[in-house]
Amino acid sequence: MKVGVAACPHWGAHNSVKRIVLAVGLALACVSSLAAAKVGSEALIEARQASMKQMAAAAKTLAGMFNGQVPYNAAAFRDAAETLRDRTGSLVGEFPSGSLGPLSGAKPEIDQDRRSFEALAHHIATLTTALAKEAANAPPKINGEMRMGPGTMMDGGSLLGKRTNAAEPDPATLPAEHLVHMILQDCTGCHSRFRQKIR
Ligand code: HEC
Repeated sequence: MKVGVAACPHWGAHNSVKRIVLAVGLALACVSSLAAAKVGSEALIEARQASMKQMAAAAKTLAGMFNGQVPYNAAAFRDAAETLRDRTGSLVGEFPSGSLGPLSGAKPEIDQDRRSFEALAHHIATLTTALAKEAANAPPKINGEMRMGPGTMMDGGSLLGKRTNAAEPDPATLPAEHLVHMILQDCTGCHSRFRQKIR
């Protein structure tokens, strides 16, 4: 350092230039790290929206197979169930604080009530895991075991909001069609609470 100063006759002038260069450099570094953060959260938002769209397509396929609007096929049934399982399994990590609010359809309330958000994410993941397990042995044609019996909705209670305090049945014991209904309810449940319309 001393050598540099001694060797430079116009040290003062150089020093202020250096300072400006340093300041500009710092400012640029700041701007670019802000930009990087913004690009980072934009990418994350786009990725989770794409993931939600995949879930929507999978859920539509499954519901369609049960109501006859989509031809049933064991492999496609399995694929859709696995997509739901995989996508719901990573939900929790996709909504960090900096990515909520007006930039996206994710409400800032997620941050204020992480427990409920995570409980919902965990609940749907439990159902989709059970569904994927059942789908692994999907028969060549939809059979009675996969179907919700008549009156299941009424007896199921949880679907109509009755017996809310009763313990939920073990998802592994529920027919696939019932699981699909419960999964769709969780989609709606989370959206009504934590999603806002953006477009
Ligand atoms: C735990 C909460 C939660 C669950 C469960 C959930 N979602 Fe979402 N979903 C959100 C939030 C929050 C957004 C807004 C995301 C954003 O814009 O960044 C969203 C957005 C979406 C979108 C719009 C994506 C876009 O392109 O903007 C679709 C479609 C969607 N969800 C479908 C589903 C389906 C189908 C399910 C059930 C299988 C489901 N979601 C389950 C919270 C949830």
